[in-house]
Amino acid sequence: MEEERLVQGQVEIFRQLFAFADSMALKCAVELGIADIIHRNGRPMTLHQIAAELPATSPDIGCLLRIMRLLVRKHMFVQHDPPPGDGINHQPEFGLTPASRWLVKDGEHSLAPMVLMQNHPSALAPWHCFSKCVQEGGVAFKKAHGLDIWEYGAVNPEFNQLFNSAMACTNKIIMKAVIAKYEHGFNRLSSLVDVGGGTGAAIAEIVKACPHLKGINLDLPHVVATAPEYQGITHVGGDMFVEIPKADAVFMKWILHDWSDDHCIKILKQCRKAIPHDNGKVVIVDAVLQSNVTEDAWEDTRMAFDVTMIAHASGGKERTEVEWRKLLKDGGFNHYNIISLPSLPSLIEVFPN
Ligand SMILES: C[S@@+](CC[C@H](N)C(=O)[O-])C[C@H]1O[C@@H](n2cnc3c(N)ncnc32)[C@H](O)[C@@H]1O
Repeated sequence: MEEERLVQGQVEIFRQLFAFADSMALKCAVELGIADIIHRNGRPMTLHQIAAELPATSPDIGCLLRIMRLLVRKHMFVQHDPPPGDGINHQPEFGLTPASRWLVKDGEHSLAPMVLMQNHPSALAPWHCFSKCVQEGGVAFKKAHGLDIWEYGAVNPEFNQLFNSAMACTNKIIMKAVIAKYEHGFNRLSSLVDVGGGTGAAIAEIVKACPHLKGINLDLPHVVATAPEYQGITHVGGDMFVEIPKADAVFMKWILHDWSDDHCIKILKQCRKAIPHDNGKVVIVDAVLQSNVTEDAWEDTRMAFDVTMIAHASGGKERTEVEWRKLLKDGGFNHYNIISLPSLPSLIEVFPN
């Protein structure tokens, strides 16, 4: 019995230590556009058919087979085996699953840019600095690159573009859930500023749903410099720690989780200055950790995002409701409602009075 438990423990260690293999196989599938190839074909394909569509003159089919075998095991693709003994040498065919549909790059909703950004060597390097972070504190990204992630993006256009695309792709998905649950909350406003809004994809979705709204997208100058034009949106290059443009309400998605409590309090104080004193509000979209709930399908990912904040953010973290309550109060907001979404983050509606 004890022996069996030890073997099981060994299984767990190997599973954990090779968890990166799943990510790397997924990254490979996105880089090669395998989901796109199958999607374009409209039906499952053999390995040779897939390989013929790859941007390669002599692809290694054996290597592709082994990567696809792992991805099938992880339910990223489905393998249809030929019927046995029909005398014809049919090959197995590979098709899309509900998971790999999210990897199709030109689909309306794609997570492919997020897969590529999170697995880019620049984004992975800080993960090797965790023990140093525990031993001496500090920001992992800075230990790996000498700059924090925002400074790094400012001098590295390729990473800046990769990061902004990753944010924009998840925006489309998450904003669908936000608008479905909270359109009424935006409809009553006449102006809204998205603080740290990246290239403006989130505020663009809100203004599309509520066209009377005047939308302002505030982000760092090197980020808004690459932002597309959107009807009804003004892009502002600036610094949220210094000044936030005035509006009826502030929207902030995936901002406060990037920062320490002290930094968040500074941002929240700038928010208060930007909104009307009596009836202003801040709409936060960020995770609320459910430390004692394990059956929520998103909770493992929320925990993974929390440690991603060690890797990428400047002292940021995911927070439990208790931690949110204290932070908001310290930032000058006494009332809040948490609205859960069928998504990774929740919506937290925050009022000063
Ligand atoms: C995690 S991203 C979230 C982007 C967007 N809100 C979204 O959810 O897709 C954080 C954003 O904060 C921006 N940011 C960082 N420091 C900032 C500052 N001091 N002032 C304004 N924006 C800042 C970054 O450039 C980045 O676009």
